[in-house]
Amino acid sequence: MTSGRQDLDSIRQMVESVLRKSEERFRQVVESAPNAMVMSNSGGIIEMVNAQAERVFGYDRAEILGHPVEMLIPERFRHHHPGMRASFYASARSRPMGAGRDLYGIRKDGSEFPMEIGLNPIETDEGTKVLAAIVDISDRKQKEERIHAALKEKEILLGEVHHRVKNNLQIISSLLELQSAKVTDPIAFESLKDSQRRIRSMALIHQILYQSKDVGHVNFESFLDGLVPTLMSAYVTDAERVSLSVGAVDVRLPISAAIPCGLIVNELMSNALKHAFPGERRGEINVNFLHQADNRVALSVSDDGIGIPETLDIAQTETLGLQLVSLLTDQLGGILTIHRADPTCFLLEFPIER
Ligand SMILES: Nc1ncnc2c1ncn2[C@@H]1O[C@H](COP(=O)(O)OP(=O)(O)OP(=O)(O)O)[C@@H](O)[C@H]1O
Ligand SMILES: [Mg+2]
Repeated sequence: MTSGRQDLDSIRQMVESVLRKSEERFRQVVESAPNAMVMSNSGGIIEMVNAQAERVFGYDRAEILGHPVEMLIPERFRHHHPGMRASFYASARSRPMGAGRDLYGIRKDGSEFPMEIGLNPIETDEGTKVLAAIVDISDRKQKEERIHAALKEKEILLGEVHHRVKNNLQIISSLLELQSAKVTDPIAFESLKDSQRRIRSMALIHQILYQSKDVGHVNFESFLDGLVPTLMSAYVTDAERVSLSVGAVDVRLPISAAIPCGLIVNELMSNALKHAFPGERRGEINVNFLHQADNRVALSVSDDGIGIPETLDIAQTETLGLQLVSLLTDQLGGILTIHRADPTCFLLEFPIER
């Protein structure tokens, strides 16, 4: 009988010692964790903190144990806290706190710092407690802000560059204008005018780039809005005779695609205006730009004019316009499909990287 009792006693002692050891180990793990750990009860009273929590908040643990967790939160956020605690207890599971919101802690000296918090429910004999793992993210925030500032600066600089490129292109265009005034040969005169218009359409792209918020992409609708009136006034004396409609909803091109594409539109629209409606012929020109699947865009320029002369071999033109179009199509990695009449249509499809 006695030996039976002794056995029980020694088993109990063993169990207690194992429990003590495991509790001690848990305490050590929490104590030396790299995150600040704060355990509070359902009433929001702090029951345990680790060494890192003392460091992060600047308190000795004797100053916080037994106090409400709200003392670690800046005044302006305190009133939310009891409600948040209630909702955590309502469905207690591990989760990040305040997802999507910036959280702040307050140190003993009154200074604030941004933090991230993970909440974990801990089941104990005295009920469920909340163990909060807290990370001071001041460093990361500061780095993020520095990167943001640097990025902003780069964007401003890039805008500045586009502005200068545009001004330089405008100067070239003015030089050609001056030169054309001195030329008496009509063919030479027209060539200079064409070059001037090409350069102006490139300048327009840079203008749109520095005026837009996104200096890396060109909103093609804005580009066409700017291009159409200048081309119309260059080629059509009677605006009633030829109408032009543009559809380009929300097509944004990276700069690498925007310049060649802008030049192509310039050529194709100029051609339609110049060649499709000779004499008093009336009609319309349609420019359409749309996104296709798989990061491809399609640009079509069509007109209901006289059509491309049957004698013309499009692949072998001597003229610069269509040569430029085919060269720039290659540069875009695109495919050009031409429909010669009824309606005359140039369809350009090309890929863009997003
Ligand atoms: N939309 C169109 N309607 C009718 N003919 C066209 C059309 N587009 C092009 N063409 C014909 O194709 C020819 C070649 O066009 P291309 O743009 O290469 O030369 P261009 O316009 O005459 O001169 P430039 O080199 O100044 O552009 C034109 O001369 C014209 O005869
Ligand atoms: Mg042409």
